[in-house]
Amino acid sequence: MPMYSEDIINEISSKIDILDVISPYVSLKKKGNTYFGLCPFHSEKTGSFSVSPSKQMFYCFGCGKGGNAYTFLMQHENMTFPEAIEALAEKAGVELPKAEMTNEQRAFQNKKAQLFEIQKEAAKYFYLLMRDERGKVALNYFKSRELSEETMQKFGLGYADKRSDDLYHYLKSKGYSDEVLKDSGVITIDERRGGHDKFWNRAMFPIMDQQKRVVAFGGRVMGEGEPKYLNSPETPIFDKSRTLYGLHLARSTKRNAFILCEGYMDVIALHQAGFDNAVASLGTAFTPGHAALIKRFVNEVYLSFDSDGAGTKAKLRAIPILKAAGVTCKIINMEPYKDPDEFIKALGPQAYEERIKNAENSFLFTIRILERDYNMSDPTSKTAFFKEVAGRIVLFPEELERSNYIEAVASKYGIRQDELRQLVISIAAKEALQPKSRDEGESFDQGVQIRKKPMKDKASEEAQKLLLTWISEEPFLLKGVSTYIKAEDFAEGILRITATHLFDQIQKDALAPSTIINLFEDEEEQQEVASIFHATVGELESPAEKAKALREVVIRVKRDAFKREREQMAESDPNIVLKTMEEKKIQKELENIDFYAIS
Ligand code: GTP
Ligand code: MN
Repeated sequence: MPMYSEDIINEISSKIDILDVISPYVSLKKKGNTYFGLCPFHSEKTGSFSVSPSKQMFYCFGCGKGGNAYTFLMQHENMTFPEAIEALAEKAGVELPKAEMTNEQRAFQNKKAQLFEIQKEAAKYFYLLMRDERGKVALNYFKSRELSEETMQKFGLGYADKRSDDLYHYLKSKGYSDEVLKDSGVITIDERRGGHDKFWNRAMFPIMDQQKRVVAFGGRVMGEGEPKYLNSPETPIFDKSRTLYGLHLARSTKRNAFILCEGYMDVIALHQAGFDNAVASLGTAFTPGHAALIKRFVNEVYLSFDSDGAGTKAKLRAIPILKAAGVTCKIINMEPYKDPDEFIKALGPQAYEERIKNAENSFLFTIRILERDYNMSDPTSKTAFFKEVAGRIVLFPEELERSNYIEAVASKYGIRQDELRQLVISIAAKEALQPKSRDEGESFDQGVQIRKKPMKDKASEEAQKLLLTWISEEPFLLKGVSTYIKAEDFAEGILRITATHLFDQIQKDALAPSTIINLFEDEEEQQEVASIFHATVGELESPAEKAKALREVVIRVKRDAFKREREQMAESDPNIVLKTMEEKKIQKELENIDFYAIS
């Protein structure tokens, strides 16, 4: 991935207008200084999606999505950051110089480019070998698994033959050095014996990234043998926990959910049967990285893992990971067959489509499995089961959702709704008495830890956001405000980082709040920054009203900053007294201040 300097990114930012970037996708109407339209990220009837030309940002007051021109392309067009930079550079007529990179970066780029080429060469080699006399065994194998010629082509299937160094010699003949080959994942270099092929007498599955570039391989043993599947190791161009098999095809599906399965053959069989939305993680456990990747394309997943015990365990692990990423999931029942490949072979696509329709809600699935650990004919065990279930229902943030689950569980497991509701309420009450255990603790789901944000003081956060929004809209105010408020007065993390950069930009007379978004990689963080600049200041008529409101916000932010500072100090710290005196003094000064007058 090429890296571009902040300068060049800022140059591009200064030459493009976010309105030009967004208006091809959203029809916008002007209201005051802001443009509004229907949000392209969630379905709505009234326009809560706003674009601000002065801030060069978008923000949806309905769903909270927000960002700058780069993030818009990343979220809406599924581009990576460098892709968005390249697209906007072209629009802006800015040439992206290769010289932007340091020597080290260039060398790394160069190496990665070679690694891509090597995968491509190897894929071609395996592909041709399978069409050759030596590769008949693999061709027949795939035929025996009922793959059509078209499917084999589409997935670029091939064969690595029994000779253990022919790919190595082939790649050498193409001019690649041992130095690069040893990091390609398809060759091992042994000091004594020289170069060897990693895959040997195996049916080969090229693994592609989203841009359809081969990044690695999976190889299946012919017949019986261990290991059944062998995968390329991770390399600079292959990160297992961020790669999904089949994604290069599934990304353009018209369906609004993915089918997530376990194996290469499952993905291929599903695509052949017309399910162009199937993907699989690569023989590794499903990770939050995978979930985040999926979330870039769809909000829903049908889990189609194996029907056996291991598959059930894997489902129980994947459900909370998907949930934490904001992806809902449903479980496909494939009984009596083991995996989607076998199911489709036996019953056909129509029957599988039926199973998709009847897929089970993930919560109900989870407690159905949980029930197996309890003896429901024993009153004590039965009570323990319902307590456990109630403890999980409590975790749903919305009242309506809790209610719906209470209803569903009650009717399914023969408990009265009001009894179950009572149980949920009593657990919630206990929780409330010990707020720590749950807000900072782990989720209850099957040993998977979900990182929860510690409870934040919402009002305090709102005040800080409001102040930053205010200053970004009337930057001259910083002159007066900065006597009292420094960047350190904002809560550690995104707020403080944003304040630091915003103040810096204003002092340098180079205000461009949208560029601050680029400092964050995580989509959630980028949205958070956008929200910081979209606090609602409200309709304030008279200058006196405005001055008063701003004063109150500054007082609140300063008070919270002092509070945080004192919390950091030991109780016996003599400086506490000094701090308290300082606080009193500043509070006094702030009482009647008019920042509009002094800025
Ligand atoms: P077939 O027998 O070819 O139908 O395989 P399958 O796709 O049904 O495979 P299985 O359910 O045994 O495994 C599912 C997936 O786990 C495979 O597609 C591989 O990605 C991975 N896998 C299976 N066996 C191994 C192994 O021995 N090593 C590694 N690294 N991965 C494996
Ligand atoms: Mn299988």
